[in-house]
Amino acid sequence: MKVIVTKNQQEAGVEGYQVFKEAVEKGAKVFGLATGSTPITTYEEIIKSDLDFSDCTSINLDEYVGISPDNDQSYQYFMNEHLFSKKPFKQSYLPNGLAEDPEAETVRYNQIIADNPIDLQLLGIGRNAHIGFNEPGTSFELETHVADLTDSTIEANSRFFEHVEDVPKQAYSMGIGSIMKSKQIIIEAFGAEKADAVAKMIEGPVTEDVPASILQQHPNVVVLLDEAAAAKLS
Ligand code: F6R
Repeated sequence: MKVIVTKNQQEAGVEGYQVFKEAVEKGAKVFGLATGSTPITTYEEIIKSDLDFSDCTSINLDEYVGISPDNDQSYQYFMNEHLFSKKPFKQSYLPNGLAEDPEAETVRYNQIIADNPIDLQLLGIGRNAHIGFNEPGTSFELETHVADLTDSTIEANSRFFEHVEDVPKQAYSMGIGSIMKSKQIIIEAFGAEKADAVAKMIEGPVTEDVPASILQQHPNVVVLLDEAAAAKLS
């Protein structure tokens, strides 16, 4: 794992953008994308740049179950706001939160990933070291599935909702089996509340109790941190 530590999330956005730029220069065409507060500065730098994704495909990690793409809490809405409306891709995929048959939706999404192997996957990390919505205890082999969110994730995500009861309890998530097939991965983490998860991911044992620890076994990972998130590394 290549670890880059920057002063703050703002500076990290420039580094994150650089990773995308280099991937584009090497011919990357398929990008795995994430939502949440973590990737926002990277998206801001991408938007400011002249990078062109009009010939590229994006595949997002996850989407809440039961939420319409027009709902301002949906991940589709987030991606439109923070990236797609300003940097359109030829094709952008997210799970359909309103799919009538969740099992069929996971099969559909796995086929999309199989048809479009991911060149660069961007990840955030949860305080419990989840990646996507692969919560502690999730099998490393799993592909897209419906995940039950843990109480800590629901609590963390409630900052985007008016009431904690409004936070969906389930999400479609790309599985770790699929994430590990990406050619390159960049995982970003900012803030002191991520420091424990970051230390376990990089220096702890590889275990399904720490989902992000599997990244130690991937051959091409950039870990992008601010000083606060790096504080517990030895
Ligand atoms: C989002 C995702 C999640 C987040 C993680 C961190 O698409 O897959 O794993 O990356 O929950 O969230 P933030 O960035 O809001 O701290």
